[in-house]
Amino acid sequence: MSSENKIYFYPVWLRIWHGINALGIIILIFTGISLQYSNPDFHLINFKLAINLHNIAGILVSLNYLLFFFGNLITSNKKYYRLKLKGLFRNLTLQVSYYTSGMFKNQQPPFPLSEKRKFNPMQKVAYLSVMYLFVPGLIFTGLALLFPETIIEEVYLFSGIFLTAVLHASLGFLVSIFLVVHLYVASIGKHPAKNFKSIIDGYHDISGH
Ligand code: HEM
Repeated sequence: MSSENKIYFYPVWLRIWHGINALGIIILIFTGISLQYSNPDFHLINFKLAINLHNIAGILVSLNYLLFFFGNLITSNKKYYRLKLKGLFRNLTLQVSYYTSGMFKNQQPPFPLSEKRKFNPMQKVAYLSVMYLFVPGLIFTGLALLFPETIIEEVYLFSGIFLTAVLHASLGFLVSIFLVVHLYVASIGKHPAKNFKSIIDGYHDISGH
């Protein structure tokens, strides 16, 4: 569905998922950092409160992930997540060159958005990695840490819980990096607030792309 220069890219279910996910992940990042660097003399957030908030937000993000997974599975939104490997490297290079140079020279984007193309190649690779590798990995390791009796005791002399915790924290770090880049990329455009509006009202404005 489109009107003039606007394309309806973000259906209601996707916006609900995105809002809950964004809030949940921000709580997880702050409480996660507080727990990672916890120190009896200084707490970013009170230790017990950080644990409780982290557990609640983790369960919320996990349940909400089901909305994303099945929403994408049963609606046409999945078509935007199909990745063609042929020419991918060239397409990614073109997009990186646009973000690092072309954009500042007022050049046209190499992959303008349309009804058929919601994401440029870089967004597609980032969204696929985050939503189908990093976030599920975080959920899986997080649930394992919530129920540590399910974790293998020892792997090559290393404690299973230790390895799970390292993997969990590393994935959390990757998702945090994604969020910073995501916010920066979302602010690129004619007006910094334009894209942020689209994930609230559903319509993406393609004028000026
Ligand atoms: C304050 C936090 C956030 C803000 C303001 C924000 C903003 C946005 C905006 C403006 C869009 C639409 C434009 C675009 O596609 O780039 C978007 C889409 C998206 N965001 Fe975020 N985001 C936030 C957090 C997150 C987090 C934490 C994740 C995942 C861990 C995430 C994953 C996605 C995905 C997968 C899409 C594309 C959804 C689709 O159209 O299928 N976002 N976000």
